[in-house]
Amino acid sequence: MPSRRSVLAVPGSNPRMIEKAKGLPADEVFLDLEDAVAPAAKAQSRANIVAALKSGGWGAQIRVVRVNDWSTEYTYADVIAVVEGAGEQLDAILLPKVIDAGQVRALDLLLTQLEKACGLEVGRIDIEPQIENALGLRNIDAIATASPRVKTLVFGPADFMASINMRTLVVGEQPEGYEPGDAYHHIYMTILLAARAHGLQAIDGPYLAVRDIDGFRRNAARTAALGFDGKWVLHPDQITACNEIFSPRQSDYDRAEEILDAYSHSTSEAGGARGAVMLGEEMIDEASAKMAQVIAEKGRAAGMTRTTQFSVETPEGAAPSGEPN
Ligand code: GLV
Ligand code: MG
Repeated sequence: MPSRRSVLAVPGSNPRMIEKAKGLPADEVFLDLEDAVAPAAKAQSRANIVAALKSGGWGAQIRVVRVNDWSTEYTYADVIAVVEGAGEQLDAILLPKVIDAGQVRALDLLLTQLEKACGLEVGRIDIEPQIENALGLRNIDAIATASPRVKTLVFGPADFMASINMRTLVVGEQPEGYEPGDAYHHIYMTILLAARAHGLQAIDGPYLAVRDIDGFRRNAARTAALGFDGKWVLHPDQITACNEIFSPRQSDYDRAEEILDAYSHSTSEAGGARGAVMLGEEMIDEASAKMAQVIAEKGRAAGMTRTTQFSVETPEGAAPSGEPN
């Protein structure tokens, strides 16, 4: 899976912001046709997006377009416009306010026809369902498995809070009166568990107080700690913080690679074919190696390089030096 630590939201109605986004270090950029675009600007925004995708100049970002949801009159025309216009440059469609698997399948069918008609490889355009209401959360397993195009599940906190009547106007912060509980815990864990159950990435939504970088960091650190893969960013200042927060710390990455090397050595014939050994002060086994694998893969996908090397000889890194008691 590619890194999706930071997912930059850019209104399709603003060509200047789209142009700027091409050079920003977000892992994914999504060009919005939905809530950041006024109804009167939808048609022009489709044209802006197609032009920006086709004109090149992009970095390595994953390129996504958020279309309008299926309850509107815009969805089919959004999809047709961007795929016919720039399907080759498009990695995924972000589908907001999904309520059931049927909505994902409808998009899958439309994409399949368009890919065939445009001479694109069938299945090349992914779908990112956005979970933004109670029904979507209840149907999340069916949504996650509705199409092989689904690679991520995305949370939409603002719409979600509105849909369940949560009593707050501040996206990302706890509703007043509920402290010290976490009003989002159930929602986050449901999305995360569905993502992990079906081999998908879990992406947190936006933090709207764009000038409050400390608030953003606090908010992002919570979902990063749970295991989410990334989060939306709305402003260039949030990107650096987001990439840092959703990457493993260097020391954790080094340790993870060290555990994998040590475990691979200790389970080999040369290492004594042992499944549980000491690495420094800690006993490691198959489960430790799995945890290390997660961190190592996230670090590698983020382009990290290790600053320490495992060596059988050094006492520090010497996994096979002792058996657990
Ligand atoms: C994003 O779409 C949100 O509703 O928070
Ligand atoms: Mg929304």
